[in-house]
Amino acid sequence: MGFTGLFRQSGLSHKNKRKNIQYILLIGPETFFFRNCFIQMARIFITGSSDGLDSMAAKLLINQGHRVVLHARNAERGRQALEKVPGAKKVLIGDLSNIEETKQLAAEVNATGHFDAVIHNAGVYQVPNKLIFAVNTLAPYILTCLIQRPERLIYLSSGLHLQGDPGLKDFSHDTSRYGYSDSKLHIVILSMAVARKWPGVYSNAVNPGWVPTKMGGKGAPDNLEKGVETQAWLAVSNDKEAKVSGRYFYHMREEYFRPEAGDPVVQEKFLALCEQISGVGFPA
Ligand SMILES: NC(=O)c1ccc[n+]([C@@H]2O[C@H](COP(=O)([O-])OP(=O)(O)OC[C@H]3O[C@@H](n4cnc5c(N)ncnc54)[C@H](OP(=O)(O)O)[C@@H]3O)[C@@H](O)[C@H]2O)c1
Repeated sequence: MGFTGLFRQSGLSHKNKRKNIQYILLIGPETFFFRNCFIQMARIFITGSSDGLDSMAAKLLINQGHRVVLHARNAERGRQALEKVPGAKKVLIGDLSNIEETKQLAAEVNATGHFDAVIHNAGVYQVPNKLIFAVNTLAPYILTCLIQRPERLIYLSSGLHLQGDPGLKDFSHDTSRYGYSDSKLHIVILSMAVARKWPGVYSNAVNPGWVPTKMGGKGAPDNLEKGVETQAWLAVSNDKEAKVSGRYFYHMREEYFRPEAGDPVVQEKFLALCEQISGVGFPA
C-alpha cells in the first residue's frame, strides 16, 4: 500500500504529500497514526466483483487504501474484473453455481491468507430457481463455513426478502421451489445465524436498494452510489454504528427485516438444509 490511499482516507491533500509525510507515524505494516487517529488498512474478499455493485465497492475500498481480492466466475471474467478495478492485486476464480468449485474457491481464499472482511455479493436474478438457490443461497453458506473466519461478514440481500418464505417451503430439498425473494431471505437468515453463533464476528445483511446495475436494469430508481457505500462501510469502518452484528442495513441505516430470520429454530432448519445439500457442516 502506498501513501496515496492513506491520503485519500485521511482527507489529506495529495499535493502536500511530501510536507504531510512527516506527520504520519507508521505503527505497523497495516496501521498508521495521523491527526490523532489510527488508520487501519484492511484486507477484504468480495464475491462477484467482476461487475455491478461490488466491483464499485472494491474501487471505493481500494481508493481508501484497503487491499481487496476480487472474485469472478471464470478466467475471462477475472481478467475483466482486474481491468475494471485498478489497484486490485488479485482475482480468484470459481463458478458459484457449482458446489465443488465453490469449495475449491474457499480453499484458494484461505491459501491467500486471513481476511478482515468478506462481502458476499454475487447473485443472480432472472434465471431458473435451481441456479438462484445455488448462487444466492448455497454458495454464501459454503464459503461462510469453509473460509477462515474473518472479523466482519457482509451479506447482500434485498428488500424483496420481505416476500420470501420463512417456512423454507416445508424444508424441501427440491431447490427449484425457492425463488429470488426466498434466496434473499435465506441470506438474511444466514447472516443472523452467523451473528448468533459467532459472537466475535460482525455479521450483517445489506439491502442496496433497486439500483441500475446489470441485475437492476437501466431504469432502476435508487441511487447507485448509496447502493455501494453501506457494504464498504460495514467492511472497514470503526464507527460504532458499523461495529454491530445481526442487523439489516439500507443506506447505512438499520432497517426492519423479517423477524423469522432472527429465530434460532428457523436458522437451524436453514443450516441443516444447506448442510444436507452441500455436505458442508456449519462450524461450531
Ligand atoms: N441491483 C439491484 O437493484 C439489487 C437490488 C437488491 C439486491 N441486489 C443484490 O446485490 C448483489 C449484487 O447485485 P448487482 O446488481 O451488482 O448484480 P450484477 O451486476 O448482476 O453482479 C452480480 C455479480 O455476481 C456474479 N455472479 C453471478 N453468478 C455467478 C456465478 N455463478 N459464479 C460467480 N459469480 C457470479 C456476476 O458475475 P458475471 O458478471 O460474470 O455474471 C457479477 O459479478 C446481488 O446479491 C443482488 O441480489 C441487487
